Amino acid sequence: MTLRISVIGTGYLGATHAAAMAEFGFEVLGLDIDPDKIAMLTAGRVPMYEPGLSELLLKHVAGHEGSTGRLRFTTSAREAAEFGDVHFICVNTPQRKGEFAADMSYVDTALDELAPHLTRPALVVGKSTVPVGSAARLAERLAALAPVGEGAELAWNPEFLREGFAVRDTLRPDRIVVGAHSERAERLLRDVYAEPIAAGVPFMVTDYATAELVKAAANSFLATKISFINAMAEVCEAAGADVTQLSKALAYDERIGGKFLNSGLGFGGGCLPKDIRAFMARAGELGADQALTFLREVDSINMRRRSRMVELAREQCGGGFLGRRVAVLGAAFKPNSDDIRDSPALNVAAQIQLQGAQVTVYDPKAVDNARKMFPSLAYAHSALEAAEGAHVVLHLTEWSEFRELDPAVLGAVVAERRLLDGRNVLDAEAWRAAGWTYRALGRPS
Ligand code: UDX
Repeated sequence: MTLRISVIGTGYLGATHAAAMAEFGFEVLGLDIDPDKIAMLTAGRVPMYEPGLSELLLKHVAGHEGSTGRLRFTTSAREAAEFGDVHFICVNTPQRKGEFAADMSYVDTALDELAPHLTRPALVVGKSTVPVGSAARLAERLAALAPVGEGAELAWNPEFLREGFAVRDTLRPDRIVVGAHSERAERLLRDVYAEPIAAGVPFMVTDYATAELVKAAANSFLATKISFINAMAEVCEAAGADVTQLSKALAYDERIGGKFLNSGLGFGGGCLPKDIRAFMARAGELGADQALTFLREVDSINMRRRSRMVELAREQCGGGFLGRRVAVLGAAFKPNSDDIRDSPALNVAAQIQLQGAQVTVYDPKAVDNARKMFPSLAYAHSALEAAEGAHVVLHLTEWSEFRELDPAVLGAVVAERRLLDGRNVLDAEAWRAAGWTYRALGRPS
C-alpha cells in the first residue's frame, strides 16, 4: 500500500516538501492554519517566488487538468492526522523578539493539534530547525498526547534546502540525515526517501540530538565561511589588496574550496542569521557557550559589512546624504528569491534613507514584499528607472540581470557615475571604461 503523507506548515519548506513527496509518488495532504495560503496552493499558486515550484504543484495538485491528483491541502488537523502514516512538521522557528533563542511555539502547537487525533500507528517527523534537545522533549509530549500512545513515534530529519533551489535540493539533497530511535521509524523514512536513496544520496541514521546538531553546525559553518572571507575583505581594504583575487586563490586549495567564499555584503535571510543566534543561545543553556563564542564574531563581522557599505555610500555622496539620491539594485536577501527577511540590501537602503538620502529601490521579484515592510522607501520598475538622477548606485543583491546592465545606458540617466558593488560580481573594468567610479568592499579603489 502506498504511504500517505501529511505535511504540516505549507511555507517555504512545507510547500516544497509536499510537492516533492507527491513527485515521489505518495498521496500527500498539506496542512496549514492560514486559509488564504491553503486556497492559493489548492489553486496551484505559490505564495512566494521559487523557481520550478509552481510547475511541480500544478503537476500534482488535485483538480487541475492533467495533474496526478496526489496532492491536496486542508486547514483541518484532524483530517491530516487521520490521513497520514507519516506526518512531517515543517513550521518555522523564528528568532524570539529581543532574544537570540528560537521561538518553538509553532512547532509545539503543530504537535499539540495533531497528536490528540492520532488513533492509529503513525510516525511524526520534525524537519524544522530546532534547538538541540527539542526532539527528545517532543517525543515525550507526543507519546503523552496521542491516543495510540507509543504507536505514535517521532523522528528528526533536518532540511538543508536553499531558497532559489528548493525543488532541486528537496528532490536530490546532498544527504538525508535522520534522527530515529526505532527500526520502524528508520524503515518508514527509508521508504519515504527510496527514490533519492536509489539515486545514491547518502542516508545517515543518528540519535535525535546529533540530527538536530547537524543542521545547526552546517549553517554555522556556512556563516563562518562567509564571515571569514568578509573579515579578509576588511584586511584587504586596510592593506590595499583585492579580496576577490584572494578568495579565488584560496579556492584552488581543495581543502578550502570556493563555495560560500564570495565576499560582499554578507549573509541574510530567514535561516543563517537566526540559526547561528539560536545555536549560541542553546549552547549557553547547555553550559557550552564558550564553544560558540566565535559565532558572536561571525555575526558581528556580518553586521559590520552593512555599516561599511553605508559609510562607503556616504563617502561617494561627498560626506553626507542630505539632498542626495541613491539607487539601490536589489531588495531580496539573495538572488532568485523574493524573500526579504533580514535582507542586507534593505537594511542598507533603510539606514541610508534614515540619514537623509532619497533612496529608490529596484528588485526583479521582491519589490512587493519590500514595500510592505519598508513603505517609506521609493520603488522603481527597472534598474534604469531607479538610477535616474542618482548620485550613487548601490548593487546589493546579485541578480543576473544586473550583470547584464550596460554601463553606458545607465550612465546616461544618473547624476553622477558612481557605483558601489556590494556583491563583487560586476565587471569593474567595463564600468570604469564607461567613465564610472567603481568601488567594492575589500578591493582597492
Ligand atoms: C541557507 C543554507 O544554505 C541552507 O542549507 C539552509 O537549509 C537554510 O539556510 P538560504 O538561506 O536559502 O540557505 O541561503 P544561502 O544560499 O545559503 O545564502 C545565505 C546568505 O549568504 C545570502 O544572503 C547570500 O547572499 C549570502 N552568501 C552566500 C554570501 O554572502 N557569500 C557566499 O559566498 C554565499
